[in-house]
Amino acid sequence: MAGFGVYAHIPFCSKRCDYCAFVTWTDRSHLAVEYVDACIADYARGSYRRATSVFFGGGTPSLIDASLLMKLLATIDIEDDAEITIECNPETLSEEKIRAYAESGVNRLSFGVQSFMPHVLESLGREHNPSHVLDAIEWARSAGIDSLNADIIYGAAGESIDDWRKTVEQTIALEIPHISAYALTVEQGTPLALDKKRHPNDDDQATKYEIVSDLLEEAGYVNYEISNWAKPGHACEHNLLYWAQGDYAALGCAAHGHEKGRRYWNVGSPEPYIERVNSDESSIGGEEVLTSEQRRFEANELSLRTRWGVSKDAFPNEEDLSEFFEAAGENLRLNNRGKFLAGEIATRLIR
Ligand SMILES: C[S@@+](CC[C@H](N)C(=O)[O-])C[C@H]1O[C@@H](n2cnc3c(N)ncnc32)[C@H](O)[C@@H]1O
Ligand code: SF4
Repeated sequence: MAGFGVYAHIPFCSKRCDYCAFVTWTDRSHLAVEYVDACIADYARGSYRRATSVFFGGGTPSLIDASLLMKLLATIDIEDDAEITIECNPETLSEEKIRAYAESGVNRLSFGVQSFMPHVLESLGREHNPSHVLDAIEWARSAGIDSLNADIIYGAAGESIDDWRKTVEQTIALEIPHISAYALTVEQGTPLALDKKRHPNDDDQATKYEIVSDLLEEAGYVNYEISNWAKPGHACEHNLLYWAQGDYAALGCAAHGHEKGRRYWNVGSPEPYIERVNSDESSIGGEEVLTSEQRRFEANELSLRTRWGVSKDAFPNEEDLSEFFEAAGENLRLNNRGKFLAGEIATRLIR
């Protein structure tokens, strides 16, 4: 039986990072109790399979009281061995909070580490310093949560090649079993977009991708998706479900769900989400039913980013793309040069 995921979006942050375009607010965490109650009621009126993964994403799920997240988790029907992840900003954590998560069955924490270099964290406008991350890792491990992820970002203004190398080396030294390394992207409408002198440089980011890729592979991590590396047994089940076009439910504003080719998304902000659920109206803001061609294209586009690759038939044209690929059994898998150009290569996939 294929897996089933539940994604709950927690749209509150204490400060907005100026490169971030995710759906989140810095002035609405007073709504947290009502908001979580609405997520609970929204889930209760649906009819879902047992979840094999639950992901609390944000925003900053770790900003709100642990008891609220745990109240929501307790209402979700989950398999005994389900993967349960919370995205955390290191400075919002405490030993008690992590213990409360662990006692309720949370078994994976994803930390927004971004960098281990204080001046890079400052350039990114982050509120934590490296010691917050070290504490969080220690508390997680002593509470019995070993499945940890670090999100790290390359390409911030003022980050040298050596700064990036040190960040990757430190992440490896801490034996964090899953690492997501993202190229800083300039998102439209963000303050970063308006500040050209801080825009990342393509060549610098390509070099940094090579560094992270080489160092992590040497350290025994498997690059199972362009931006994701895991030690054996630590790949993120919830993400694997997304990439396999699996089904998942959406809780909370702006959350996306998927069921057998029907994609839907909830209304975009917390107040209407709460209002709609409380008046027993649908929380769905929009939906789209994919044609079989669209599903095939998306399946190929997602697989192209993974280590399992795509079938040779996924490329209908005669164009020679061999310099971007290596063999993966019968399939084609992007090599390092190809990974950096994945978006461009995906435009060649069969429609
Ligand atoms: C939306 S955040 C949620 C988790 C948490 N609030 C945090 O910031 O760590 C998830 C991840 O998205 C990444 N991210 C956000 N904006 C980005 C951007 N413009 N470019 C690259 N990565 C970005 C960050 O690495 C972040 O850890
Ligand atoms: S803390 Fe995370 S979700 Fe919040 S603004 Fe920063 S990157 Fe975005």
